Amino acid sequence: MKKYYIKDIYDIYKKLINKKIIIKGWIKYYRNSIFIDINDGTTIKNLQVIIKNKKFLVKEKEINIGIPIKVIGKLVYQKKNINNIEIIPNYIKIYKGYDLNYINNSILQNKYHKLSKLREEVYLRFRTNIFSTIMRIRSLLFFEIHNFFNKNKYILINTPIINKNNAEGAGEVFKITSLGDSNNLTSKDLFNNEGKLTVSGQLELESAMYGLAKVYTFGPVFRADNSNTFKHLSEFWMLESEIMYYKLKDIINLSIKLIKYLFKKILYKCKNELNYLEEYHNKHNRFKKLKERLTKIINNKFIIISYTKIIKLLKKVDNNIINWGDDIGSNHEKIIFNKIFNMSLPIVIYNFPKCIKPFYMNINTDSDTTKSIDILLPDIGEIIGGSEREISYKKLLKRIKNNNMNVKDLNWYLNLRKLGKISHSGFGLGVDRLIQFITGINNIRDVVPFPIYPGHI
Ligand code: 4AD
Ligand code: MG
Repeated sequence: MKKYYIKDIYDIYKKLINKKIIIKGWIKYYRNSIFIDINDGTTIKNLQVIIKNKKFLVKEKEINIGIPIKVIGKLVYQKKNINNIEIIPNYIKIYKGYDLNYINNSILQNKYHKLSKLREEVYLRFRTNIFSTIMRIRSLLFFEIHNFFNKNKYILINTPIINKNNAEGAGEVFKITSLGDSNNLTSKDLFNNEGKLTVSGQLELESAMYGLAKVYTFGPVFRADNSNTFKHLSEFWMLESEIMYYKLKDIINLSIKLIKYLFKKILYKCKNELNYLEEYHNKHNRFKKLKERLTKIINNKFIIISYTKIIKLLKKVDNNIINWGDDIGSNHEKIIFNKIFNMSLPIVIYNFPKCIKPFYMNINTDSDTTKSIDILLPDIGEIIGGSEREISYKKLLKRIKNNNMNVKDLNWYLNLRKLGKISHSGFGLGVDRLIQFITGINNIRDVVPFPIYPGHI
């Protein structure tokens, strides 16, 4: 007799019909002491146990939602069951050691909780249908990101989490210390009090690009800005790529190809999860056609428009909301999607002013704008930022100085330009935001296993 995970049983159930098997899991639902639904976390689908022999009836007071159980029984085909199969047991064991009072007062009690409520017991959310579904999609997405770059012959570079440069030249950075609480002893700090948590792996990745041509990095990055919004985290996962000889239009094409590839894979491999999420949104009066909107994006061209044009269009809606040179914020993104392009398609905005973009971006001949892009998704806004990189030593040095950045710290980065003019471009994608979009979940904190945000670690 073999023990099976429920996902494996569903995958090969035809071979297991009428065989005696062992399953373990927790009780998800029960009725009349006869029907017990079991889940073990390997799939959204429960497996129903149906007690036909009175000998195996479990006393009502012994059964509770959320407690662990072991069942040995025969797997049978059952036409009436939407999952086609159920188990007729000849052995049932309820494991002890649970604290029913705790379970029944936690987010696991058998009723609907808002996602913000689930967040209060973040370590228990994995047990819920909604959160486990999101985690399955997240896991597949990570895997497919690596797959995409591997298939296209990119080299994965693990850029460091601890460094001492603030790659973006803007925004707040977390400092680290090895001195615990006694941080007045700065000279004794392992990194001389210079260690920071990385905000982006880009600069290190560029150095890898000079040797390996097509590279990517994928890891957590940290921002200490006090941004308490539905789409900001203090720790989030960024995918970044740098490619030798790529120009802006190549970066645009690559980003579009990547997004379409990922959406295709999710549509194909996460059907059950997307169906569950659509039902979930429906039940709570948020009608989200997740599969339809992914399909639409796969089958259509992205809108591509310059920063200057989008500012003109925004000013047509309301002359006072923005001026040339201002950054495009969440409020503007809403107008762009709801009033200017009401098409639910991603938008690529290119050539942002240099005054709102980092020092490493290549500048256009107009000397005001950069060879840069942001890609926006409906509901989420900015998902990707990228550019052609400045390859002239002199110009780069000038911009570092003009931005009041520490030249000494960036000397290594400047030195790369001494290898000659090797044009290259790159981009960064906020992966947690992408999961938000795919799942239709409003708050980024609900698509991350352990979200870190202002006021919450
Ligand atoms: O636009 P950002 O800041 O770009 C960079 O860091 C570049 N160095 C990337 C590169 O060219 N290699 O960040 C990239 C993306 C944003 O478009 C956004 O999707 C996401 O990262 N992002 C955040 N996601 C969650 N929480 C935050 N606080 C985020 N800040 C940026
Ligand atoms: Mg950006």
